[in-house]
Amino acid sequence: FGVLGQYFHCPVKGDFEYAAHALILVDQQGTIVSVLTDSDTQYHAQIEALSAHQQLIELSPTQYLMPGMVDLHVHAPQFPQAGKGLDLPLYDWLQDYTFPLEAKFEDMVFAKQIYPQLVQSLLANGTTSAVYFATIHKDTSVELARECLRQGQRGYIGKVNMDEPTQCPPFYIEPSTETALKETECFIQQVLAIEGNEEQLVSPVITPRFVPSCTAELLQGLGELVQQYQCHVQTHCSESDWARDHSQAQYGKTDVEIYNDFGLMTSKTILAHSIFLTPSDHQLIKSTGASIAHCPLSNMYFANAAMQTREILDNDLKCGLGSDLAGAPIPSIFHTCLDAVNHSRVREDGTSTYLPANERGEQGSRISFLEAYWLATVGGGQAIDAKVGLFQPGFEFDALVIDTAIADSNIFILEEMDSAKDKLEKIICLNSRQNIRKVWVKGQLVVDK
Ligand code: GUN
Ligand code: FE
Repeated sequence: FGVLGQYFHCPVKGDFEYAAHALILVDQQGTIVSVLTDSDTQYHAQIEALSAHQQLIELSPTQYLMPGMVDLHVHAPQFPQAGKGLDLPLYDWLQDYTFPLEAKFEDMVFAKQIYPQLVQSLLANGTTSAVYFATIHKDTSVELARECLRQGQRGYIGKVNMDEPTQCPPFYIEPSTETALKETECFIQQVLAIEGNEEQLVSPVITPRFVPSCTAELLQGLGELVQQYQCHVQTHCSESDWARDHSQAQYGKTDVEIYNDFGLMTSKTILAHSIFLTPSDHQLIKSTGASIAHCPLSNMYFANAAMQTREILDNDLKCGLGSDLAGAPIPSIFHTCLDAVNHSRVREDGTSTYLPANERGEQGSRISFLEAYWLATVGGGQAIDAKVGLFQPGFEFDALVIDTAIADSNIFILEEMDSAKDKLEKIICLNSRQNIRKVWVKGQLVVDK
């Protein structure tokens, strides 16, 4: 099929491209085969041929085609927790809210009540690819993978691992380290073998929760599974004073160093948060090709410090955005873009008492909306090792139609004043789920309003 209309994307970090009347051709496998403009010889003939076969989707002048959003860090079981207890520090929030809720996912009936709603909500908000933490339970974690496949979302799903009795409550802990490893291996095999998953729309992710909740034996065993299966890896990395101090006390090392020692730092590793990175952590992340999931709002609640987003961008570390649902309550990566900009601005200016300008905050740490949007699309695509985030031949067609002129829109475009860049910034900043009219994943239409 073909889509005819205007589009935005960001091939270059910090910059954007706008095309006014492009024709994007997508093949049966959902891959973009060509992107034509009216100066191409084939343009008019292709439009005619597609129309004749009812295979042309033509956008209106208030509709914009945009790449699908990539959420690098979502806690699927925490969907019912969104909006609760976010004034607590991380440790209390986990113990009081998260662990009791996650423990309930032993029950398949309960899981089936939550996971379909979550996947639907993320797709409706434009998240075409999501990297999920599930829970310690293998069967309901596989069910989350099945649900992504059913609804057509590109899903990266991890059965969570946590076996450290001093950190995990008795009602939510692996029965033993050995069981955790066995169940993780079984989980990997089952996700790879789900019927209909031949093209790997959903993938298993090896998931140690974070350093405090895992014994060294567990981290060691998970590192061996990474070797064996070459899977993606996800975990929390140096996300708060408490977590960082815990790792220092236990190992005398940073989280990045600890994960590296256990064979968990690969080019398919996604490190959520990564607040307290040392210069040598930067080097290790770069040399291993691991990625960072920046979760700006959750960091404002739990980190006790600001993210080095500016340095990470300038250093060309692989990085994308994560909602960290329910460590932040809003299941939208558009919203996360706004949070990422705001986070950097507070860091840049941030002191509450009068100081000379050069002594306030950290000068030069702001990021732009276009950089945030690049992280949400191209950066996220690189982190999951998928060809998504751009409208270029060979990329998978993961895309959204945003309509800025619906009745209940927060976006207001004034044609005679707004440049293409103004329009893009307004969409990134103000988009809500009502504006998203269509969503495709791998060429499959999964939301259509
Ligand atoms: N660290 C360990 N577990 C979690 C979690 O569920 N959410 C967040 N934000 N941080 C964590
Ligand atoms: Fe998290």
